[in-house]
Amino acid sequence: MTDNPNAIRAAVTSRFSQVASSPGQEKKFPVGPASAKKLGYDYSEIDALPSSVTDSFCGVGNPLGLGAVLPGQTVLDLGSGAGLDCLRAARRVRPTGKVIGVDMCPEMVEKARRNARLLGLNNVELVIAGIEKVPLPDASVDVVISNGVFNLCPDKPGVLAEAFRVLRAGGRLQMADILLEEGVTPEEVARKGSWSN
Ligand SMILES: C[S@@+](CC[C@H](N)C(=O)[O-])C[C@H]1O[C@@H](n2cnc3c(N)ncnc32)[C@H](O)[C@@H]1O
Repeated sequence: MTDNPNAIRAAVTSRFSQVASSPGQEKKFPVGPASAKKLGYDYSEIDALPSSVTDSFCGVGNPLGLGAVLPGQTVLDLGSGAGLDCLRAARRVRPTGKVIGVDMCPEMVEKARRNARLLGLNNVELVIAGIEKVPLPDASVDVVISNGVFNLCPDKPGVLAEAFRVLRAGGRLQMADILLEEGVTPEEVARKGSWSN
């Protein structure tokens, strides 16, 4: 049992380093290209991507499907994982735009960097950091996307405040996540396994 946010973040980081290195072994939640297709991603777009771009995908929806990102825009992906949404966004904003992906799991960020090189995308920056403190100035982003990440964050109001700090006036937050409709007891909230398993 733990109510220590740092212990929760360490457990989550360790959990997702396994998903980065051995996605085929993930049995508890859907991972990979088949999951992306079920969530509404374009089949031909997914099929055309190298398997390393899609095999560690572990999102729960399709944030880029919620609104268009345009050439020249700056997009921030909170909890970017192996980079599927980042790299799709990078293609949409074109070389005049920019995408920044932030994730605290080094193995995920390394994989996303390899994937960006594989696709020849130079307009993506992938940063190892917690999304509670994003290394970007105020009002510097047009669209914040996030996929399956807020539910893993002990400080949800803090993460949300950080998203709105970096958004420009008129910018958008497009996120997909899971939530429990039933009440959650303090004991369940404190159980580390509920966060990382
Ligand atoms: C379910 S995966 C989703 C990854 C990616 N968005 C996707 O759709 O494939 C959750 C990701 O969020 C990252 N993450 C969770 N909590 C985080 C935090 N507090 N700060 C930064 N990254 C975090 C994990 O390391 C993991 O890569």
